Amino acid sequence: MPPDLSPIDHAKYVCARRAADMVETGMRVGLGTGSTAVFLVKRLGERVREEGLRIRAVPTSTRTAELAREEGIEVVSLDAAKWLDLTIDGADEFDPQLALIKGGGGALLQEKIVATASDRMVVIADRGKVVDTLGAFPLPIEVIPFGWQTTRTLVEEMLMSMDVQGRSGKLRTAGEAPFRTDESNYILDFELGRIGAPAHLALALNQIPGVVENGLFVDICDEVIIGYGDGRTEVRARAAAEGGETGSLFADLPD
Ligand code: A5P
Repeated sequence: MPPDLSPIDHAKYVCARRAADMVETGMRVGLGTGSTAVFLVKRLGERVREEGLRIRAVPTSTRTAELAREEGIEVVSLDAAKWLDLTIDGADEFDPQLALIKGGGGALLQEKIVATASDRMVVIADRGKVVDTLGAFPLPIEVIPFGWQTTRTLVEEMLMSMDVQGRSGKLRTAGEAPFRTDESNYILDFELGRIGAPAHLALALNQIPGVVENGLFVDICDEVIIGYGDGRTEVRARAAAEGGETGSLFADLPD
């Protein structure tokens, strides 16, 4: 372990290393974004240099792409890779069914496309990301800048009929200006408190004109590797996750 890691960084470091061990020569691998994913990319870079690991990587953001190249990892576009064997990414929250909130780092759109185009998605997360019900972390929603305030109003109105506790959305900023995603869109962060039916909400959000994508990942993640500050890791797989397999994105839709 590198010296001077805080317990939380140690937790991120150990789960990232365990996930990096799942990567084998010849794989096409999706690389996530965020502070936990940084540990992953660095470890894969070490394996490329020290063990001759050969992979083709599809990053989920320009930040991750830059780091991967610096680490000597071959970076290709998703269209060149076509499909991926494995994607490894962080998360902001995950529940017992391994539904996720993602997008705290603003890369949710590419993250969802890449994870969906993968045979397997593994999330790496410190213990603080485990929740019983999603929603304490504000839900990021990527929107087109044109008419974004109208889009926010439409989302807030739709939320009145959803099983959530709050419904106010804030424009994410970077200094004085709106934060811009890699696709130059805006992010609205919604304080929902509790999301009772994540699959239902994810579908409803994407029906609203102006919404590009939302940070709910339902039935996408197959496994989570949880890292602890004392260096332990724990693996939770979706089929075995508490509450059982939801099976379908449409599972919690009303009849
Ligand atoms: C990036 O947009 C996010 O989805 C990240 O994967 C998520 O915010 C986790 O980030 P950390 O690993 O920094 O907690």
